[in-house]
Amino acid sequence: MSEHCKKAYITTPIYYVNDIPHIGHAYTTIIADSLAIYSRMAGLETFFLTGTDEHGQKIEEAAKKRGKSPKEYADEISGRFKALWDEFEISYDKFIRTTDEDHKIGVQKAFKTMYDKGDIYKDVYRGHYCISCEAFFTETQLVDGEFCPECGKPTQIVEEESYFFRLSKYQDRLLEWYRENEKCILPKTRRNEVMRFVEGGLEDLSITRTSFDWGVKLPAEMNDPKHVMYVWLDALMNYLTALGYGTDEKLLDFWPARVHLIGKDILRFHAVYWPAFLMSLDLPLPKHIAAHGWWTRNGEKMSKSKGNVINPKEVADAYGLENFRYFMLREVPFGGDGDFSQKALIDRINSDLGNDLGNLLNRLIGMSGKYSDGAVSSAKVAELYGEELAEVHDSLDKLEPLLFEMQLHRYLEELWKPLAVANKAIDRHQPWVMMKEGRNEEAYALLGLIANILAKVAVMLHPIMPKTTQTIARALGFTINGTAYEDLIQRKDLLSDFTIEKVPPLFPRIEEPLLKEAAPAAEEKRPAEKKEKPKSEPVEGLITIDQFFETKLAVGTVVEAEEVHKSKKLLRLQVDLGEEKPRQIIAGIKEWYSPADLVGTQVCVVANLKPAKLMGMLSEGMLLAAKDEEGLALIRPEAPKKAGTPIG
Ligand code: MSP
Repeated sequence: MSEHCKKAYITTPIYYVNDIPHIGHAYTTIIADSLAIYSRMAGLETFFLTGTDEHGQKIEEAAKKRGKSPKEYADEISGRFKALWDEFEISYDKFIRTTDEDHKIGVQKAFKTMYDKGDIYKDVYRGHYCISCEAFFTETQLVDGEFCPECGKPTQIVEEESYFFRLSKYQDRLLEWYRENEKCILPKTRRNEVMRFVEGGLEDLSITRTSFDWGVKLPAEMNDPKHVMYVWLDALMNYLTALGYGTDEKLLDFWPARVHLIGKDILRFHAVYWPAFLMSLDLPLPKHIAAHGWWTRNGEKMSKSKGNVINPKEVADAYGLENFRYFMLREVPFGGDGDFSQKALIDRINSDLGNDLGNLLNRLIGMSGKYSDGAVSSAKVAELYGEELAEVHDSLDKLEPLLFEMQLHRYLEELWKPLAVANKAIDRHQPWVMMKEGRNEEAYALLGLIANILAKVAVMLHPIMPKTTQTIARALGFTINGTAYEDLIQRKDLLSDFTIEKVPPLFPRIEEPLLKEAAPAAEEKRPAEKKEKPKSEPVEGLITIDQFFETKLAVGTVVEAEEVHKSKKLLRLQVDLGEEKPRQIIAGIKEWYSPADLVGTQVCVVANLKPAKLMGMLSEGMLLAAKDEEGLALIRPEAPKKAGTPIG
């Protein structure tokens, strides 16, 4: 671990119970979950907190509309959040609710502590309040003198007795904190934004309300029962009360938080109010506050009224939870907005996961089965492929800092480099040629290299795809845990010798969008290659380029070949086209080629031919060949090409 602290306290925002979980909530939670899994694997004592924010006028009104009491309503929606995270197997250590008794006690203790210190005083509040954002705005901040600058809804003029927190007192100390801690707010550009805001001057903050009831009451000693606490004071305090602040404080040594994960819309509350409250309570400040961007739909913010909300459960059910996790973290640079589209999700699954990762494992299973009965050894890997190994370790060394600085897309980008090293090594060294030439030792070591690369990538991908990576590990004869992390990543050890276990394809290819509701505009629904082509007039004997490209040709690697019993002409081949599994092709070439001539060599395949049966066997493609009086010759690429490379 690069940083000193051996504990990791990781939090998500607590979600308002006025809305059911959507993709934005799932995004924050999945990032936090990935960090927590990584921290545990890296040996840090980890506490991962999530929960629901249940007080305030907004919730009171939402409950009333449905004819329920606020608590009944909060129970129902909070239950939905918890059920979803449980279904997603989110590894939280505590699910806090702001209606929990011990939370309320902790909030009251904090209020009293700040009051006793002189940081809270009573006055009259006059201002514009937005119920939807639970925030006050000054006249100059309003849009057209009336509307909330955050959500655009009308604000209300509020004049009532209120307790105030001396936020202005902390302006200089806050600025000092931002200046001295370059990474306290991530991404760094957001820190500048916050600094500009604070430099503009801070006004004291109204932190109680008397116009509604649904909130935490002031401490009994204050003897002022008509006040309830401002929801943001109540809500932010969850990060401390979850550790027992004010009640049973035995978990308090997890404080300060390693990272508070939030969305960019709630940055001001976390980066200005929260550290000021903590300063007032004489408590240390969080290490990082990391603000991500928004998921949009066709460029628009999602909302129930627009009917464009993406339901994370539907996406996970259709495409696989772990594929969805990978997609969300890989697709969008942390901090930026991301537009959800099924096409982008499908591309990531087919390309990154299917072609680069899944297919590499298939190649290893296929080759090791054929060359060494599945036995894989690391014995000569370092000696024969030291350069490749060094390149892989170089990439792996860069990963941890990227993760803790929330550069998650770059983490995954860097993690894919070892896979490219592996795929390139196979194409360059051609183990099938080595085997043919009797250089078995070199071929075995190459398989050892591939296995080790897959193992190390699986360990580092584990926080994002916990189950899939355990399946990969199982194929490679190990289990991902703290010891594997220590051995394979920290000490850069290699795998013990093992016999590979065949596992079912991990990333079956997806051809069409799988969700109707979330299906985008008609144009996006159709894969690009199916778009209607402009029709051109036929010229006798000639075809257009478009007509040529209707035939899909690709380079394939023959991974298995055998004679077809009782046939003089046919061979049965398994040809790797870079897909999830090799294709079976029945080829009439027995007169000219023996199976041994073909295994490990490359061929050109018509890849979009309708499958046909030959002697009762399915043939899923055709080989290109040229035949004259001398006999038949297969057409092959002049230099080895990655399986599946298109020909055109
Ligand atoms: N209750 C407060 C947080 C209190 S934390 C002490 C709150 N709740 S929320 O349910 O409205 O939002 C929770 C989180 O979801 C926020 O971080 C917000 O940014 C995030 N998202 C809500 N919609 C989103 C998207 N469409 N995209 C990405 N995240 C967004 O705020």
